[in-house]
Amino acid sequence: MSDLTLLTDATVATMDSKSGGYGVIHDAGIVISQDRILWVGAVADCPPDYADAHQIPCAGRLITPALIDCHTHIVHGGHRAREFEMRLEGASYQEIAKAGGGIVSTVSATRAASDADLLHHALRRADTLIAEGVSTIEIKSGYGLDIDTELRMLRVARQVGQQRQVRVVTSFLGAHAVPAGMDADDYIDTVCIPALKAAHAGGLVDAVDGFCEGIAFSTDQIARVFDTAKALGLPIKLHAEQLSNIGGTALAARYCAQSVDHVEYATEQDARALADAGSVAVLLPGAFYTLRETQAPPVNAFRTHNVPMAVATDWNPGSSPMGSLLLAMNMACTLFGLTPAEALAGTTRNAARALGLTDCGVIAPGKRADLAVWDVSDPAELSYRIGVNPLHKRIFGGQA
Ligand code: NIG
Ligand code: FE
Repeated sequence: MSDLTLLTDATVATMDSKSGGYGVIHDAGIVISQDRILWVGAVADCPPDYADAHQIPCAGRLITPALIDCHTHIVHGGHRAREFEMRLEGASYQEIAKAGGGIVSTVSATRAASDADLLHHALRRADTLIAEGVSTIEIKSGYGLDIDTELRMLRVARQVGQQRQVRVVTSFLGAHAVPAGMDADDYIDTVCIPALKAAHAGGLVDAVDGFCEGIAFSTDQIARVFDTAKALGLPIKLHAEQLSNIGGTALAARYCAQSVDHVEYATEQDARALADAGSVAVLLPGAFYTLRETQAPPVNAFRTHNVPMAVATDWNPGSSPMGSLLLAMNMACTLFGLTPAEALAGTTRNAARALGLTDCGVIAPGKRADLAVWDVSDPAELSYRIGVNPLHKRIFGGQA
Protein backbone atom coordinates (compact mmCIF):
# COMPACT_ATOMS: atom_id res chain seq x y z
CA MET A 1 0.00 0.00 0.00
CA SER A 2 1.44 3.37 -1.05
CA ASP A 3 2.14 6.00 1.59
CA LEU A 4 1.32 8.68 -0.96
CA THR A 5 -1.91 10.67 -1.14
CA LEU A 6 -3.22 12.21 -4.35
CA LEU A 7 -5.72 15.02 -3.97
CA THR A 8 -7.43 14.91 -7.34
CA ASP A 9 -10.19 16.62 -9.34
CA ALA A 10 -9.34 20.04 -7.87
CA THR A 11 -8.67 23.57 -9.00
CA VAL A 12 -5.34 24.56 -7.43
CA ALA A 13 -4.19 28.13 -6.76
CA THR A 14 -0.50 27.48 -6.15
CA MET A 15 0.24 31.17 -5.29
CA ASP A 16 3.65 30.34 -6.75
CA SER A 17 3.21 32.30 -9.95
CA LYS A 18 6.05 34.62 -10.92
CA SER A 19 3.48 36.99 -12.45
CA GLY A 20 1.93 37.66 -9.04
CA GLY A 21 -1.38 35.97 -9.92
CA TYR A 22 -2.98 32.93 -8.35
CA GLY A 23 -1.03 30.40 -10.39
CA VAL A 24 -4.24 28.47 -11.11
CA ILE A 25 -4.10 24.92 -12.42
CA HIS A 26 -7.43 23.43 -13.54
CA ASP A 27 -8.23 19.68 -13.33
CA ALA A 28 -5.31 19.52 -10.95
CA GLY A 29 -3.86 17.09 -8.47
CA ILE A 30 -1.44 17.33 -5.55
CA VAL A 31 0.68 14.38 -4.40
CA ILE A 32 1.55 14.39 -0.70
CA SER A 33 4.12 12.25 1.05
CA GLN A 34 4.05 12.50 4.85
CA ASP A 35 4.14 16.23 5.66
CA ARG A 36 5.40 17.39 2.25
CA ILE A 37 4.10 18.17 -1.23
CA LEU A 38 5.76 15.87 -3.73
CA TRP A 39 4.10 17.00 -6.93
CA VAL A 40 1.44 19.43 -8.21
CA GLY A 41 0.07 19.75 -11.73
CA ALA A 42 -2.70 18.85 -14.14
CA VAL A 43 -3.96 15.35 -13.31
CA ALA A 44 -3.43 14.38 -16.96
CA ASP A 45 0.31 15.01 -16.44
CA CYS A 46 0.59 13.03 -13.19
CA PRO A 47 3.70 10.81 -13.39
CA PRO A 48 2.96 7.05 -13.43
CA ASP A 49 5.05 6.57 -10.25
CA TYR A 50 2.13 8.03 -8.31
CA ALA A 51 -0.45 5.66 -9.86
CA ASP A 52 -1.10 3.73 -6.60
CA ALA A 53 -1.34 6.83 -4.39
CA HIS A 54 -4.41 6.87 -2.16
CA GLN A 55 -6.79 9.13 -4.10
CA ILE A 56 -8.98 11.77 -2.49
CA PRO A 57 -11.34 13.27 -5.08
CA CYS A 58 -12.09 16.95 -4.39
CA ALA A 59 -15.19 17.37 -6.61
CA GLY A 60 -13.73 20.38 -8.41
CA ARG A 61 -13.10 22.34 -5.20
CA LEU A 62 -10.42 25.03 -4.92
CA ILE A 63 -7.21 24.19 -3.05
CA THR A 64 -4.93 26.99 -1.85
CA PRO A 65 -1.99 27.06 0.52
CA ALA A 66 -3.38 27.06 4.08
CA LEU A 67 -3.70 30.63 5.34
CA ILE A 68 -1.10 32.31 7.53
CA ASP A 69 -2.05 35.00 10.05
CA CYS A 70 1.28 36.82 10.37
CA HIS A 71 0.28 39.44 13.01
CA THR A 72 -1.85 38.66 16.08
CA HIS A 73 -2.03 39.41 19.78
CA ILE A 74 -4.29 36.44 20.64
CA VAL A 75 -2.75 35.89 24.09
CA HIS A 76 -4.31 38.54 26.33
CA GLY A 77 -6.61 38.95 29.30
CA GLY A 78 -9.95 40.77 29.34
CA HIS A 79 -11.61 42.87 26.67
CA ARG A 80 -12.06 46.57 25.88
CA ALA A 81 -15.71 46.84 24.87
CA ARG A 82 -16.05 49.96 27.04
CA GLU A 83 -13.39 51.70 24.93
CA PHE A 84 -15.37 50.77 21.84
CA GLU A 85 -18.31 52.62 23.37
CA MET A 86 -16.06 55.56 24.31
CA ARG A 87 -14.80 55.87 20.73
CA LEU A 88 -18.39 55.83 19.48
CA GLU A 89 -19.03 58.67 21.92
CA GLY A 90 -16.19 60.64 20.30
CA ALA A 91 -12.97 59.76 22.18
CA SER A 92 -9.96 58.86 20.03
CA TYR A 93 -7.67 55.81 20.45
CA GLN A 94 -4.83 58.16 21.43
CA GLU A 95 -6.94 60.05 23.98
CA ILE A 96 -8.05 56.79 25.59
CA ALA A 97 -4.42 55.59 25.72
CA LYS A 98 -3.22 58.88 27.28
CA ALA A 99 -5.99 58.66 29.91
CA GLY A 100 -4.66 55.27 31.08
CA GLY A 101 -6.86 53.06 28.94
CA GLY A 102 -5.74 51.32 25.79
CA ILE A 103 -2.88 48.84 25.84
CA VAL A 104 -2.07 49.40 29.54
CA SER A 105 -5.61 48.43 30.56
CA THR A 106 -5.11 45.08 28.81
CA VAL A 107 -1.79 44.85 30.64
CA SER A 108 -3.63 44.93 33.99
CA ALA A 109 -6.07 42.25 32.82
CA THR A 110 -3.26 40.07 31.44
CA ARG A 111 -1.16 40.33 34.59
CA ALA A 112 -4.22 39.37 36.65
CA ALA A 113 -5.09 36.33 34.50
CA SER A 114 -3.78 32.87 35.36
CA ASP A 115 -1.74 30.92 32.79
CA ALA A 116 -4.67 28.51 32.44
CA ASP A 117 -7.05 31.36 31.75
CA LEU A 118 -4.73 32.97 29.18
CA LEU A 119 -4.28 29.62 27.45
CA HIS A 120 -7.99 28.81 27.47
CA HIS A 121 -8.90 32.03 25.68
CA ALA A 122 -5.91 31.93 23.32
CA LEU A 123 -6.89 28.39 22.26
CA ARG A 124 -10.44 29.50 21.54
CA ARG A 125 -9.13 32.32 19.37
CA ALA A 126 -6.68 29.97 17.61
CA ASP A 127 -9.56 27.54 16.97
CA THR A 128 -11.54 30.32 15.30
CA LEU A 129 -8.63 31.03 12.95
CA ILE A 130 -7.97 27.33 12.31
CA ALA A 131 -11.63 26.89 11.32
CA GLU A 132 -10.95 29.32 8.45
CA GLY A 133 -8.06 27.25 7.10
CA VAL A 134 -5.22 28.91 9.02
CA SER A 135 -2.14 26.70 9.55
CA THR A 136 0.31 29.25 10.98
CA ILE A 137 -0.29 31.99 13.54
CA GLU A 138 2.16 34.61 14.71
CA ILE A 139 1.52 35.54 18.35
CA LYS A 140 3.05 38.52 20.15
CA SER A 141 3.75 39.26 23.78
CA GLY A 142 3.40 42.91 24.83
CA TYR A 143 0.59 42.92 27.39
CA GLY A 144 2.88 41.98 30.28
CA LEU A 145 5.38 44.85 30.31
CA ASP A 146 7.14 43.13 33.22
CA ILE A 147 9.62 40.30 32.87
CA ASP A 148 7.43 37.64 34.42
CA THR A 149 4.27 38.38 32.42
CA GLU A 150 6.07 38.84 29.10
CA LEU A 151 7.59 35.37 29.58
CA ARG A 152 4.24 33.92 30.65
CA MET A 153 2.59 35.24 27.47
CA LEU A 154 5.25 33.70 25.26
CA ARG A 155 5.03 30.35 27.07
CA VAL A 156 1.27 30.35 26.56
CA ALA A 157 1.81 31.16 22.87
CA ARG A 158 4.14 28.15 22.56
CA GLN A 159 1.52 25.97 24.31
CA VAL A 160 -1.06 26.95 21.68
CA GLY A 161 1.25 25.38 19.09
CA GLN A 162 1.62 22.25 21.22
CA GLN A 163 -2.06 21.79 21.96
CA ARG A 164 -3.39 22.42 18.47
CA GLN A 165 -2.45 21.29 14.94
CA VAL A 166 -1.10 24.73 14.14
CA ARG A 167 2.32 26.28 13.79
CA VAL A 168 2.96 29.19 16.14
CA VAL A 169 5.65 31.79 15.55
CA THR A 170 6.28 34.12 18.50
CA SER A 171 7.31 37.76 18.58
CA PHE A 172 8.62 39.52 21.67
CA LEU A 173 6.77 42.86 21.89
CA GLY A 174 8.07 44.23 25.18
CA ALA A 175 8.29 47.69 23.59
CA HIS A 176 4.52 47.91 23.14
CA ALA A 177 3.58 50.60 25.69
CA VAL A 178 5.11 52.38 28.65
CA PRO A 179 3.72 50.87 31.86
CA ALA A 180 1.95 53.26 34.23
CA GLY A 181 4.32 55.18 36.50
CA MET A 182 7.50 54.39 34.53
CA ASP A 183 9.80 56.48 32.38
CA ALA A 184 10.01 55.14 28.82
CA ASP A 185 13.83 55.06 28.73
CA ASP A 186 14.04 53.34 32.12
CA TYR A 187 11.44 50.84 30.99
CA ILE A 188 13.42 49.96 27.84
CA ASP A 189 16.71 49.57 29.72
CA THR A 190 15.59 47.96 32.97
CA VAL A 191 12.60 45.85 31.91
CA CYS A 192 12.22 45.42 28.16
CA ILE A 193 15.79 44.50 27.25
CA PRO A 194 16.32 42.17 30.27
CA ALA A 195 12.94 40.52 29.49
CA LEU A 196 14.02 39.99 25.87
CA LYS A 197 17.28 38.40 26.98
CA ALA A 198 15.47 36.12 29.44
CA ALA A 199 12.81 35.15 26.89
CA HIS A 200 15.48 34.40 24.28
CA ALA A 201 17.44 32.29 26.77
CA GLY A 202 14.26 30.31 27.40
CA GLY A 203 13.81 29.64 23.67
CA LEU A 204 10.59 31.63 23.62
CA VAL A 205 11.35 34.22 20.93
CA ASP A 206 11.30 33.86 17.14
CA ALA A 207 11.39 37.59 16.33
CA VAL A 208 11.45 40.97 18.06
CA ASP A 209 8.73 43.57 17.51
CA GLY A 210 8.02 47.08 18.85
CA PHE A 211 5.49 49.91 18.63
CA CYS A 212 7.08 53.07 17.27
CA GLU A 213 4.56 55.88 17.71
CA GLY A 214 3.96 59.12 19.62
CA ILE A 215 1.89 57.20 22.20
CA ALA A 216 4.51 54.43 22.49
CA PHE A 217 8.27 54.50 21.79
CA SER A 218 10.62 56.75 19.80
CA THR A 219 12.98 55.52 17.10
CA ASP A 220 15.93 55.88 19.52
CA GLN A 221 14.24 53.70 22.12
CA ILE A 222 13.22 51.09 19.54
CA ALA A 223 16.78 51.12 18.13
CA ARG A 224 18.10 50.01 21.54
CA VAL A 225 15.75 47.02 21.49
CA PHE A 226 16.73 46.22 17.89
CA ASP A 227 20.44 46.38 18.80
CA THR A 228 19.78 43.76 21.47
CA ALA A 229 17.82 41.63 18.98
CA LYS A 230 20.72 41.88 16.53
CA ALA A 231 23.22 40.86 19.20
CA LEU A 232 21.04 37.83 19.99
CA GLY A 233 20.71 36.94 16.29
CA LEU A 234 16.94 37.51 16.25
CA PRO A 235 15.04 39.00 13.28
CA ILE A 236 13.02 42.16 13.83
CA LYS A 237 9.68 43.61 12.81
CA LEU A 238 7.89 46.80 13.81
CA HIS A 239 4.46 48.39 14.32
CA ALA A 240 5.19 51.64 12.49
CA GLU A 241 3.52 54.58 10.82
CA GLN A 242 0.09 53.54 12.10
CA LEU A 243 -1.14 56.91 13.37
CA SER A 244 1.64 59.27 12.23
CA ASN A 245 5.06 59.16 10.56
CA ILE A 246 7.93 59.33 13.06
CA GLY A 247 10.49 57.35 11.06
CA GLY A 248 9.82 53.83 12.29
CA THR A 249 9.69 52.31 8.82
CA ALA A 250 13.03 53.82 7.83
CA LEU A 251 14.55 52.59 11.11
CA ALA A 252 13.18 49.07 10.65
CA ALA A 253 14.46 48.98 7.06
CA ARG A 254 17.94 49.88 8.33
CA TYR A 255 17.77 46.72 10.48
CA CYS A 256 16.50 44.68 7.47
CA ALA A 257 13.18 43.97 9.18
CA GLN A 258 11.23 40.89 8.21
CA SER A 259 8.18 43.12 8.13
CA VAL A 260 6.89 46.57 8.98
CA ASP A 261 3.26 46.49 10.03
CA HIS A 262 0.32 48.98 9.70
CA VAL A 263 2.30 51.51 7.57
CA GLU A 264 -0.69 53.75 6.78
CA TYR A 265 1.51 56.85 7.08
CA ALA A 266 4.50 55.39 5.22
CA THR A 267 5.82 57.52 2.35
CA GLU A 268 7.12 56.68 -1.11
CA GLN A 269 10.63 56.93 0.33
CA ASP A 270 9.68 54.46 3.05
CA ALA A 271 8.40 52.10 0.35
CA ARG A 272 11.75 52.35 -1.40
CA ALA A 273 13.59 51.63 1.84
CA LEU A 274 11.40 48.56 2.47
CA ALA A 275 12.08 47.30 -1.04
CA ASP A 276 15.85 47.73 -0.61
CA ALA A 277 15.73 45.94 2.74
CA GLY A 278 13.59 43.07 1.40
CA SER A 279 10.97 43.75 4.09
CA VAL A 280 7.27 42.91 3.81
CA ALA A 281 4.59 45.58 4.39
CA VAL A 282 1.94 43.95 6.59
CA LEU A 283 -1.45 45.62 6.08
CA LEU A 284 -3.87 45.49 9.00
CA PRO A 285 -7.26 46.67 7.76
CA GLY A 286 -9.03 45.52 10.94
CA ALA A 287 -7.25 48.22 12.97
CA PHE A 288 -7.81 50.84 10.25
CA TYR A 289 -11.52 49.97 10.23
CA THR A 290 -11.96 49.78 14.00
CA LEU A 291 -10.25 53.12 14.62
CA ARG A 292 -12.05 54.67 11.66
CA GLU A 293 -8.75 55.82 10.22
CA THR A 294 -8.88 57.67 6.93
CA GLN A 295 -5.31 57.46 5.61
CA ALA A 296 -4.89 54.19 3.72
CA PRO A 297 -1.41 52.66 3.30
CA PRO A 298 0.48 53.64 0.11
CA VAL A 299 -0.42 50.49 -1.79
CA ASN A 300 0.53 51.96 -5.17
CA ALA A 301 3.99 52.87 -3.91
CA PHE A 302 4.39 49.32 -2.55
CA ARG A 303 3.39 47.98 -5.97
CA THR A 304 5.71 50.35 -7.85
CA HIS A 305 8.70 49.41 -5.70
CA ASN A 306 7.82 45.70 -5.50
CA VAL A 307 7.35 45.65 -1.74
CA PRO A 308 5.58 42.38 -0.91
CA MET A 309 2.29 43.04 0.90
CA ALA A 310 0.89 40.71 3.56
CA VAL A 311 -2.53 40.94 5.22
CA ALA A 312 -3.25 39.93 8.83
CA THR A 313 -5.98 40.21 11.46
CA ASP A 314 -3.93 42.04 14.14
CA TRP A 315 -6.39 40.27 16.48
CA ASN A 316 -6.15 42.24 19.73
CA PRO A 317 -8.68 43.55 22.26
CA GLY A 318 -8.23 47.24 21.41
CA SER A 319 -7.63 48.30 17.84
CA SER A 320 -8.65 45.09 16.05
CA PRO A 321 -10.97 42.69 17.88
CA MET A 322 -11.24 40.68 14.66
CA GLY A 323 -11.12 36.90 14.50
CA SER A 324 -11.39 36.41 10.75
CA LEU A 325 -8.52 36.41 8.29
CA LEU A 326 -11.00 36.08 5.41
CA LEU A 327 -12.62 39.31 6.60
CA ALA A 328 -9.18 40.95 6.72
CA MET A 329 -8.74 39.92 3.07
CA ASN A 330 -12.11 41.40 2.17
CA MET A 331 -11.28 44.64 3.98
CA ALA A 332 -7.82 44.83 2.36
CA CYS A 333 -9.61 44.83 -1.00
CA THR A 334 -12.49 47.14 -0.11
CA LEU A 335 -10.65 49.61 2.14
CA PHE A 336 -7.10 49.53 0.71
CA GLY A 337 -7.73 48.63 -2.95
CA LEU A 338 -5.84 45.32 -3.05
CA THR A 339 -6.88 42.90 -5.75
CA PRO A 340 -8.25 39.58 -4.46
CA ALA A 341 -5.09 37.94 -5.84
CA GLU A 342 -2.95 40.36 -3.78
CA ALA A 343 -5.09 39.68 -0.71
CA LEU A 344 -4.63 35.91 -1.05
CA ALA A 345 -0.89 36.34 -1.66
CA GLY A 346 -0.98 38.48 1.50
CA THR A 347 -2.27 35.63 3.64
CA THR A 348 -0.13 32.92 2.01
CA ARG A 349 3.14 33.59 0.17
CA ASN A 350 3.86 37.05 1.56
CA ALA A 351 2.64 36.20 5.07
CA ALA A 352 5.17 33.34 5.15
CA ARG A 353 7.87 35.78 4.09
CA ALA A 354 6.82 38.26 6.80
CA LEU A 355 7.58 35.49 9.30
CA GLY A 356 10.83 34.41 7.65
CA LEU A 357 9.31 31.01 6.72
CA THR A 358 10.47 29.45 3.45
CA ASP A 359 8.74 26.05 3.66
CA CYS A 360 5.11 27.16 3.36
CA GLY A 361 2.81 29.75 1.78
CA VAL A 362 2.86 28.29 -1.73
CA ILE A 363 1.90 24.94 -3.25
CA ALA A 364 5.10 23.55 -4.74
CA PRO A 365 7.18 20.37 -4.49
CA GLY A 366 9.17 20.25 -1.26
CA LYS A 367 6.93 22.66 0.66
CA ARG A 368 4.89 21.59 3.69
CA ALA A 369 1.52 20.08 2.84
CA ASP A 370 -0.40 22.84 4.62
CA LEU A 371 -3.45 23.23 2.42
CA ALA A 372 -6.97 24.62 2.52
CA VAL A 373 -9.74 22.99 0.46
CA TRP A 374 -12.59 25.43 -0.19
CA ASP A 375 -16.17 25.05 -1.32
CA VAL A 376 -15.60 27.65 -4.04
CA SER A 377 -14.34 27.46 -7.60
CA ASP A 378 -12.84 30.94 -8.14
CA PRO A 379 -10.08 32.16 -5.77
CA ALA A 380 -11.53 35.70 -5.83
CA GLU A 381 -14.51 34.28 -3.89
CA LEU A 382 -12.31 34.07 -0.79
CA SER A 383 -12.04 37.86 -0.61
CA TYR A 384 -15.46 38.66 -1.99
CA ARG A 385 -17.91 37.38 0.61
CA ILE A 386 -18.38 38.96 4.03
CA GLY A 387 -18.92 36.79 7.10
CA VAL A 388 -19.05 33.52 5.16
CA ASN A 389 -16.61 30.67 5.80
CA PRO A 390 -16.38 28.38 2.77
CA LEU A 391 -13.68 26.07 4.20
CA HIS A 392 -14.34 22.42 3.29
CA LYS A 393 -11.25 21.02 5.00
CA ARG A 394 -7.81 21.99 6.16
CA ILE A 395 -4.74 19.79 5.71
CA PHE A 396 -1.92 20.43 8.18
CA GLY A 397 1.43 18.82 7.52
CA GLY A 398 -0.27 16.27 5.26
CA GLN A 399 -2.91 15.38 7.88
CA ALA A 400 -6.57 16.14 7.20
O1 NIG B 1 -1.32 46.38 16.44
N1 NIG B 1 -0.48 49.34 17.49
C1 NIG B 1 -0.17 48.80 18.51
N2 NIG B 1 -0.56 47.62 18.97
C2 NIG B 1 -1.79 46.96 18.62
C3 NIG B 1 -2.92 47.51 19.42
C4 NIG B 1 -2.96 46.96 20.73
C5 NIG B 1 -4.09 47.42 21.57
O2 NIG B 1 -4.76 48.45 21.32
O3 NIG B 1 -4.31 46.69 22.54
C6 NIG B 1 -2.04 47.05 17.15
O4 NIG B 1 -2.94 47.76 16.66
FE1 FE C 1 -0.51 44.71 16.36
